[in-house]
Order: sequence, then C-alpha cells, then structure tokens
Amino acid sequence: MPTVAVLVGSLRRASINRKFAESLGRLAGDRLTFRFVEIGDLPLYNEDLWDDAPASVLRMKSEVEAADAVLFVTPEYNRSFTPAIKNAIDWGTRPWGQNSWEAKPAAVIGTSPGAIGSAVGQNALKGLLTVVDMVLMGQPEVYYSYKADAFDADNNVTDEATRSFLNSWIDRFAGWIARTSEPRTTAQP
Ligand code: FNR
Repeated sequence: MPTVAVLVGSLRRASINRKFAESLGRLAGDRLTFRFVEIGDLPLYNEDLWDDAPASVLRMKSEVEAADAVLFVTPEYNRSFTPAIKNAIDWGTRPWGQNSWEAKPAAVIGTSPGAIGSAVGQNALKGLLTVVDMVLMGQPEVYYSYKADAFDADNNVTDEATRSFLNSWIDRFAGWIARTSEPRTTAQP
C-alpha cells in the first residue's frame, strides 16, 4: 500500500486541519497509509545550522524521502499557507542537491471555518510545490468549509455526502500516486 507523508500546517492541539487529516487517513483504510510528519519542532531555517544539522530536520527529510507521496493539509493564514509549512519546505530543499521533495507525487487539501475552505492559502502553496519539483495533483480540489458534526470523536466521517466526496478524492490520489511515481532507486552501497 502506498505511504503518504502528511504535513499539517497548523501546530495547535485542537486544529481542525489535523482533525480533517486524521479523519481522511482513517477513511483511506487499505488504500493509502498516512504517516504524520512532525514539523513543529523544526527550527526556523538558518543556513548556519547545517554545521551541526538539527535532528528534527534530518528526521523530517528522511520521513519525506521514505514516503511514496506527500500530502499537505493547510489552513489559510492571511490569504496564504502557514509559516510552519514554508519552513519545512525550505529545510527539505537543502543541502543543495538533496531536495527531499523532488519528483514526489503530492496533493494539497485544507479546511477553514469560513466559506472558502482555505482555497487562497492552498493555491499559494500549490505554486511553491511546482517550484520545488513535486508532481502535484490538480484535481479534485478540496476546499472544505469545516463542519464539526461531520466527524465523530474517533475520526470517522459521519456525514454521508462528505464521506462520499472524500472517498472519491482518496481514489483519485491513490491513482495519481500509481501513475506518477518514478521507479525507486536502490540505496547506494
Ligand atoms: C486565520 N484564519 C483565516 N481564515 C481564512 O479563511 N482566511 C484567512 O486569511 C485567515 N487568516 C488567519 C490568520 C491567522 C494568523 C490565523 C491564526 C487564522 C482563521 C483560520 O482559518 C482558523 O483559525 C482555522 O481554524 C485555522 O486552522 P486550524 O488551526 O484549526 O487547523
């Protein structure tokens, strides 16, 4: 089963984006395995830190590189995506020549309490993902206006229309990963 490194742009405990991502991962069942990647412990990007690379950075890069695909789940902050995601992406592109994002199938989703469901923030992020050489799925878009009663405490999607839409998104993303994955290169001896 394909593994998906999941980066959630909100760091707060009660994040609706984290809840949304966890519910999607549960719904994905035996189609995709979600592996949540911690990004809240990354220091702010500073080139000097490569002199003694932070363990959190090396861990994040290896978790991304080990996954078959990457899913970004982002709130909208002032009509953009969050600094936590930008910081993680910047770390992932370095050291020069060791871009962890290169050729990875990717998708962006997100939610907000408002009507446009983080659409503007997501689209800002989509532009960046092509710059860092990811293979971005364009459709279907998920701009989810959050409804707390569509999910239960165990992260099941209880609303039928939401579940059906998210199920079709999971199928599309699994198909995208299968179609766009480069053959794995074996580790160097
Ligand atoms: C927001 N929020 C927000 N919402 C929106 O629809 N458009 C926006 O531009 C912004 N801007 C914004 C900036 C900052 C700094 C914060 C903290 C919040 C509201 C945001 O969608 C809401 O707080 C979500 O609940 C954040 O997602 P999590 O943390 O619940 O996943």
